[in-house]
Amino acid sequence: MINLGILISGRGSNMEAIIKAVRLRKIPVRPAIVISNKPEASGLKIAQKYGVKTAVVESPPVKGASWEYDVRITKVLEDNGVTSKNGLVCLAGFMRIMSPEFISHYKRRILNIHPAILPAFPGLHAQRQAIEYGVKYSGCTVHFVDEGVDTGPIILQAVVRVKNDDTEESLSKRILKEEHKIYPEAVKLFVEGRIRTDGRRTLTR
Ligand code: GRF
Repeated sequence: MINLGILISGRGSNMEAIIKAVRLRKIPVRPAIVISNKPEASGLKIAQKYGVKTAVVESPPVKGASWEYDVRITKVLEDNGVTSKNGLVCLAGFMRIMSPEFISHYKRRILNIHPAILPAFPGLHAQRQAIEYGVKYSGCTVHFVDEGVDTGPIILQAVVRVKNDDTEESLSKRILKEEHKIYPEAVKLFVEGRIRTDGRRTLTR
C-alpha cells in the first residue's frame, strides 16, 4: 500500500478531509505521517485525533525554497515509509515553496490544492485575486507539483460561482467545500494508479 505524507502549516481542513476518507475506507492508502512547519498548527491535533502520527519540522524564517530544509522533511517522510518509490506527498496548506531537489526526488508524487481555477490566480490570496479581477466563476484545482508556483499538471478542478456580494471570506468558504471533495478524490485516483500524464495533460481513467 502507498504511504501518504501530508504537509500542513495551519488548520488542516484538507488534511482532515483526506484522512476522513481514508478512515471511511474510501481510499486505499496508509496515512503515515502529518508534518507541520509550524508547531502551533491546529491541524496537528486533528491528525492526532484520527490516530495519525505527527511531526514538526520548524522552518527557518527565510522565505523561498531551501533544499537544506527540505532534506529534513525528506528524512522524516522516508523514515515513515513515504519514499520516492512507495510514497505520496500531499501539500495541504503548506506555506512553503519546495526546492527543485525535493520535487525531483518525489517526481510526480507530490500533489497540491490551490483555491482557484489554475492557471488563473496562482500564488497567495487566490480568492481575493478572483474577486478583484471580477471573474464570475472561480473554484479550486488539485495538481501535481513541479518547479513553478502552482504550475504543475492539473488533475481535478471544481467550479464555484462568484456572487455579487461575495467577500474573500464568503467565497473562500464555498471554495473550501469543493476542495474537501476533490482533494480526497485526486488522492484516490493517484493511489489506484488511475492517473496517466501526457506532457502537461493528465488522463484519468
Ligand atoms: C486551502 O484554501 C488550500 O487551497 C490552500 O490553503 C488552504 C489550506 O486550508 N492551499 P486548510 O489548512 O486545508 O484548511
